[in-house]
Amino acid sequence: MNLFNVYPLYNVTPVKAEGCYVWDEKGTKYLDLYGGHGVISIGHTHWDYVAKLKDQLDHIGFYSNSIQNSLQVELAQKLGKISGCEDYDLFLCNSGAEANENALKLASFKTGKKRVISFENSFHGRTSAAVAATDNLNINAPINLQQEVTFLSLNQIDLVKIEIERGDVCAVIIEGIQGVGGLNEGTTSFFQQLEKVCTKNEVILILDEIQSGYGRSGKFFAFQYHNINPDIITIAKGMGNGFPIGGVLISDKIEAKFGMLGTTFGGNHLACAAAISVLDVMEKEKLIDNTNEVSDYFIERIKEIPQIKKVKGKGLMLGVEFDFEVSEIRKKIIFDKHIFTGGAANKNLLRILPPLSVSKSQIDEFVEALKEVLNEIN
Ligand SMILES: Cc1ncc(COP(=O)(O)O)c(C=O)c1O
Repeated sequence: MNLFNVYPLYNVTPVKAEGCYVWDEKGTKYLDLYGGHGVISIGHTHWDYVAKLKDQLDHIGFYSNSIQNSLQVELAQKLGKISGCEDYDLFLCNSGAEANENALKLASFKTGKKRVISFENSFHGRTSAAVAATDNLNINAPINLQQEVTFLSLNQIDLVKIEIERGDVCAVIIEGIQGVGGLNEGTTSFFQQLEKVCTKNEVILILDEIQSGYGRSGKFFAFQYHNINPDIITIAKGMGNGFPIGGVLISDKIEAKFGMLGTTFGGNHLACAAAISVLDVMEKEKLIDNTNEVSDYFIERIKEIPQIKKVKGKGLMLGVEFDFEVSEIRKKIIFDKHIFTGGAANKNLLRILPPLSVSKSQIDEFVEALKEVLNEIN
């Protein structure tokens, strides 16, 4: 059997990883400034995390959601405390798309309506309603296009008001900071007015923090820069440091009913152990403080490179923008300098999503490599 060929692959095969480094099968060491697409939060194969998962596997790896699971309760309490979102309830699932799918479903259950407002360049996942709310027609099949979604420009509150006042909107879904689209973000005034207009019209405001959450922006959630309280927050990526887990944080506006949501695998024992360990390590190693320190350092050092037009994003969710396409640079950085970085829908942008434990000297390594690559291609 062959693999269904949907991913254009770089010719590198990682077989081992530790902290901010991965090694391929030939023993070549790579600096990981991509974190497997913003997933590795506390560093690869962190000792505490590995020990906790192995220990959990020795006890119980999985049982059904129709039975008590005290690890889910422990995770919810810890997450509430560390994120500052203690007033929300937690529903656990397996991925980012699934988190958004459940969030949109809750909004529709609550309001009895079905149109969604989303934004240009957004990415919310690949399942039914999540992909329909994603601004990319190429990844929507006809079956997805039966969803009612209106895409608006970011930071244009008047357009949002016009659409919401038509009276058929169940949810507005927005990323804390856009990831795949290329690090654009709403202004504080936009987020605050969005909250106001949603509350006034009883529309559910969903903050997709799947990529920008879990400390990556330098606060636990990126929306916390704007002093708002979304009705629903969705999480995944950094939550399990590579173990598949996602979650929906739900405000008390929405009342739970038996059978409203459900999943076989979501919130299983192993996934909860991984997620608890991530929060423990984030706290113990003060990874959000490190994120802010290293981010400031990155932004300072990158100013040494005149070819860079702009640095976008926050914390360790950064994009460096050129006025030319970066695919050649990205290839050279991987194959000649052995550093992983990310691309974006904006082809002029190099994305930096390292583990939150990355050090300043690892940023030095990247800056020097980027300077050399830029000299070589000019
Ligand atoms: C902002 C955002 N939302 C949702 C998703 C979908 O997550 P998953 O791939 O886990 O389904 C992603 C993935 O890149 C994302 O960046």
